[in-house]
Amino acid sequence: MTRIFRILFCSALLCVCAGMQAAKPGTFTVGEGTFLLDGKPFIVKAAEVHYPRIPRPYWDHRIKMCKALGMNTVCIYIFWNIHEQQEGQFDFSGNNDVAEFCRLAQKNGMYVIVRPGPYVCAEWEMGGLPWWLLKKKDIKLRERDPYFMERVKIFEQKVGEQLSGLTIQKGGPIIMVQVENEYGSYGEDKPYVSEIRDCLRGIYGSELALFQCDWASNFEKNGLDDLTWTMNFGTGANIDQQFKRLGELRPNAPKMCSEFWSGWFDKWGARHETRPAKAMVEGMDEMLSKGISFSLYMTHGGTSFGHWAGANSPGFAPDVTSYDYDAPINEYGHTTPKYFELREMMQKYSDKKLPAVPKAPMPIITVPKFELKTFSDLWFAIGKEEKGTLKTFEEMDMGWGMILYTTTLPEIPVQSVLTAEIHDFGQVFINGDYIGKIDRVKNEKSITLPPVKKGQKLNILVEGMGRINFGRAIKDYKGIIGDVTLTADVDNNEVTWKPQLWWHLAIDDSYETAVKTIKMVENSNMNRPTEKSKSGYYRGYFNLSKVGDTFLNFETWGKGQVWVNGHAMGRIWSIGPQQTLYVPGCWLKKGKNEIIVLDVVGPKQPVVWGQAEPELNKLQLEKSNKHNNIGDKPDLNSDTPAASGAFSGGNGWQTVKFAAPAKGRYLAIECRSTQKAGDRVAIAEIYLQGQDGKRLSRESWTTKYATSEEENGNHMGDKVFDLQESTYWRTEKGSAAPHLLYIDLGSVQTVTALEYLPRAEQGAPESVKDYRIYIK
Ligand code: GLA
Ligand code: CA
Repeated sequence: MTRIFRILFCSALLCVCAGMQAAKPGTFTVGEGTFLLDGKPFIVKAAEVHYPRIPRPYWDHRIKMCKALGMNTVCIYIFWNIHEQQEGQFDFSGNNDVAEFCRLAQKNGMYVIVRPGPYVCAEWEMGGLPWWLLKKKDIKLRERDPYFMERVKIFEQKVGEQLSGLTIQKGGPIIMVQVENEYGSYGEDKPYVSEIRDCLRGIYGSELALFQCDWASNFEKNGLDDLTWTMNFGTGANIDQQFKRLGELRPNAPKMCSEFWSGWFDKWGARHETRPAKAMVEGMDEMLSKGISFSLYMTHGGTSFGHWAGANSPGFAPDVTSYDYDAPINEYGHTTPKYFELREMMQKYSDKKLPAVPKAPMPIITVPKFELKTFSDLWFAIGKEEKGTLKTFEEMDMGWGMILYTTTLPEIPVQSVLTAEIHDFGQVFINGDYIGKIDRVKNEKSITLPPVKKGQKLNILVEGMGRINFGRAIKDYKGIIGDVTLTADVDNNEVTWKPQLWWHLAIDDSYETAVKTIKMVENSNMNRPTEKSKSGYYRGYFNLSKVGDTFLNFETWGKGQVWVNGHAMGRIWSIGPQQTLYVPGCWLKKGKNEIIVLDVVGPKQPVVWGQAEPELNKLQLEKSNKHNNIGDKPDLNSDTPAASGAFSGGNGWQTVKFAAPAKGRYLAIECRSTQKAGDRVAIAEIYLQGQDGKRLSRESWTTKYATSEEENGNHMGDKVFDLQESTYWRTEKGSAAPHLLYIDLGSVQTVTALEYLPRAEQGAPESVKDYRIYIK
């Protein structure tokens, strides 16, 4: 080797090593009260980001944005269903190339924490589980069901093929791997969790640190002795309280908040969620000052493109497309005031000056208003057809999209009521005339039909939205579930019909179907919507002289999905709060760009424009979400309370045992005073115990009435049974106690006790003192 060549060669090598932190094997272990990196105390400052929620060309930029915040690690989930969309077919390419994402993190000097599920929650379709698991009807998800476990192991093995060579022990960036996810909000099953642990240990080796995450109040249910425990809680939480139990049980364990929620996710039909920057930064400052590791969930939320947004339960609350999360790095990768406040605080805990904030990879552009001129009716999109008794999407072997269910009606000379469990959005037609909708979001299950003639056609167009990603309800089939019944009062007799013979006409939600359908009518006279046929595909074009990120506005549209240049951009729905879709410039081009909108309802006007700012907080509701209809207010004057007394102040659960079991369909909680006189009232969670002392299921609970609810911030009555300790019902500003919350339990129950959780913030603000509890 010549001298000059040798110099060049060596400096090239040096560059590689400098850029690739931990390129030589290292260790990450659990020490006394701290994690140890290569034997030295180490505080994990992790930034949660999700690679499928960021276009691949922007990965590097977003990682650099996290680094400039003072983070040393990125924390990622692996979404099983995006990698195995059909059973046995795996995809780790393009935007799914998780190994490349980890290597990029390492090139940027960041460590990686991997959370491979199998279940991840994350406001992602079915919490990451693939829908095709539901084809096995009796499957038990997240349990030791043989088929479930078999598929989990195959999947984890495939992920292992991508990632097991990237652990710190092998010179890669991965320092820890998570076992399952918040299992305590699903069940109590240590053998199942142990089996997941063993599976991951087999794949990543016994040297790699494994951990579990859950809420402090749930941990003991499933915590395994040989795994690190980490806690999930949100901005504002009382941090010492969160680690209290861990400190008692494992005084020498390192402390980590595995999900510190920077903001929150948004649901269709409810206000955009935010959390104050100050409280977030103070919480993180407190943790760092106490040597507590964390992952900031989300540091950059990104976008749930295509049909990947999930839904929450109890009830059915589908998530919007944007996963902005009010995170410090916004949906489109830009800084926010929260970002700079956090960065300033993080600088205190770094001995080096934090790297400069990187420039966004693309400018922001606007697009003038244009019309989507070509239309095609949904009829032309029909793929598979089947005749028989009612089938779900899964029974038709489809994951997403729509089914048009059609049957022939009997003669019903008077009005009748159609009842059906529709997942998720049904539109009912008789002989092509629109009758109305059955919307699962609103808990609707029936609709009144006009008198009908024998032989008329009943059509129900059912659109599936994201599958539930949290709680027991994740086994969320789509389509019509069970029978459709028609009941009518004929000559003073209640008559019921159950049509048995149905046609199922399936429409998938792929781009291929959208394009094919448009092409079919493009040059015919059927390419314009009519008054009767407005739901379908709309195509238009926009020209760009300069490429950049933009926010396409859909506020004049109904409900559906959008594709730009073949990329599935996400769902739209006029009710809001999200009215624009983030369109990354890396998926646009100079010159002509194509857009197709599938509108299952039909637009007011088929126009779109690109604006420079997103619109994430504009509701267009038929009526407010408040439960303040005075006719729903119970009269409790002549009722005897099942219990009355006073709660104590401070954080944490309290249980009120009733003197005798109480039976009824409704729960009324009268909050007669607050711990601090003059406060408004807040409650984070409520459970009822049944005869066996176990918690009753809250899946069919709904709020019937509340004397006051703060709509801004979504502090509605249902927040006391949304399975989230960090969210709460709160009365409006200036509305001191007394207050009443009235909950419909869905059916008559026998109740023996009530469990109450005040807000999680220090001092449990606005918590209840004197109460009366009624079961009515
Ligand atoms: C939990 C889950 C996350 C996410 C958050 C809420 O902590 O573990 O996946 O769903 O709630 O955003
Ligand atoms: Ca709650």
